[in-house]
Amino acid sequence: MAEPLVEIKDLHVQFEVRDGIIKGVDGFTLTINRGETLGVIGESGCGKSITAKAVMQMVPRPGKITGGEILYHQRDKYDPKKPTEVINITKLDPDGDQIRRIRGGEFAMIFQEPMSSLTPVYTTGTLIGEALHLHRMVPKTVGEHMVQNITAYRPVTKAEAREISIEMLQKVGIPKPHERVDAYPHQLSGGQRQRVMVAIALSCHPFMLIADEPTTALDVSIEAQILDLMRGLQETTEMSIMFITHNLGVVAEMAKEIVVMYMGKQVEAASTDRVFYEPKHPYTRALLQSIPKVGKRSSDRLASIKGMVPDPFHLPTGCVFHPRCPSFMPGKCDVLTPNWIEVEPDHWVRCLLYEGV
Ligand SMILES: Nc1ncnc2c1ncn2[C@@H]1O[C@H](COP(=O)(O)OP(=O)(O)O)[C@@H](O)[C@H]1O
Ligand SMILES: [Mg+2]
Repeated sequence: MAEPLVEIKDLHVQFEVRDGIIKGVDGFTLTINRGETLGVIGESGCGKSITAKAVMQMVPRPGKITGGEILYHQRDKYDPKKPTEVINITKLDPDGDQIRRIRGGEFAMIFQEPMSSLTPVYTTGTLIGEALHLHRMVPKTVGEHMVQNITAYRPVTKAEAREISIEMLQKVGIPKPHERVDAYPHQLSGGQRQRVMVAIALSCHPFMLIADEPTTALDVSIEAQILDLMRGLQETTEMSIMFITHNLGVVAEMAKEIVVMYMGKQVEAASTDRVFYEPKHPYTRALLQSIPKVGKRSSDRLASIKGMVPDPFHLPTGCVFHPRCPSFMPGKCDVLTPNWIEVEPDHWVRCLLYEGV
C-alpha cells in the first residue's frame, strides 16, 4: 500500500513585484509516497524550483506562500514504531527550530546552483561533518557488538564524521577523497561542487530527497554514477525522491510516476509508462516530441516548444496553454478553465479535450 510522505495541496506562491503580482505556483497539487520516485517535468519557468523550495519552507523573497498546504507525514527516524504526525510545512516559521530539524535531516535538497549553496569558508569535510553532527545518529554499541533490539542511538564522533565524509566523497565520484575532504569549495570544479552537495544531501539519509536538476551540470558518466547512488540509497533507506528535470531520458530511468507542470499548475499526472506511451495533454505531447534524438548527449536540454511561455502579467484567458496548443478549440479553450480530471484509472489531466465540452 502506498503511504504518503508529502502531500502538496493547491499550493500558491506569489511574487509581488513593482509591476504587479507573479503567480509562480498557481494551484499545484501532488503526493509523494514513501520510498517512491516522482518525476516533475516542464519547461523553464513553470514553477518547479519554487515548488521544491516551498516544500523546504525556503521560498525566496519577495515570494510568499499565499494558499494551499504542504502536509508532511513525519515519522521518527530512530523509532519507526512511533505513530506518524502530520505537519503542515506552510505553517512553520521559515527560521524556526522545527523546519531546521526537518531540513537537512528529513528532507534534503540538491539545488541547481551549487556555488551559492556551499559556504565558502568551510572544507568539504567540515560541511558534510556538520550535517552529520546535526542530523545523523548511529546505533549504540557495546564493545564491538551492536546492542540487539535497541532504540538507543548516539551522535557520530568527529573521527566517524571524517570517515563517513571520505566515504561519501568517494561514492559521488570525487577523485582522491582523502585529500579532497580538506578542500574548500573554490578549489573544486563546478561538477565536483555539485557532487559535494549530493554527498551532503545523502549523508544524513533523508526521508525525502528533492533533486532539482541535480545532474544538469555533470558529464554523462558522473551523472550515471550519481543516479545509481540515489537509487542504491533509496533501496536501503526507503527514501522518497522528488526528481525535477528537463531531461526526459533521466526521468524515464528514475521515476515511477510523473507530474507535468505548466504555468504553476499540474497539467498531467500518471505512471511514467503512461506519460511516455499514452500522453493525453497536448503540452505533454509537445514536450515528448522535443526529446533529443538518440546519439545526442543525454544532458541536452529540451528543444523548445512552438510559441513562448506567456507573459506572467498578461496570462491567457481560459486554458493558459491555448495560444500554443495544436488542438486549440476556438470559443472553448480561450473561454473555459479546464478542470483536473481522471481520464482513466490513475491518469489525470487538465484539458478541455477530455471534458466533452
Ligand atoms: N525571485 C523571483 N521574483 C519574481 N518572480 C519569480 C522569482 N523566482 C521565480 N519567479 C517566478 O516564478 C516562476 C517559476 O519559477 P521557477 O520555479 O524557478 O521555475 P522552474 O520551473 O524553471 O524551476 C518564474 O517563471 C517566475 O515568473
Ligand atoms: Mg528551476
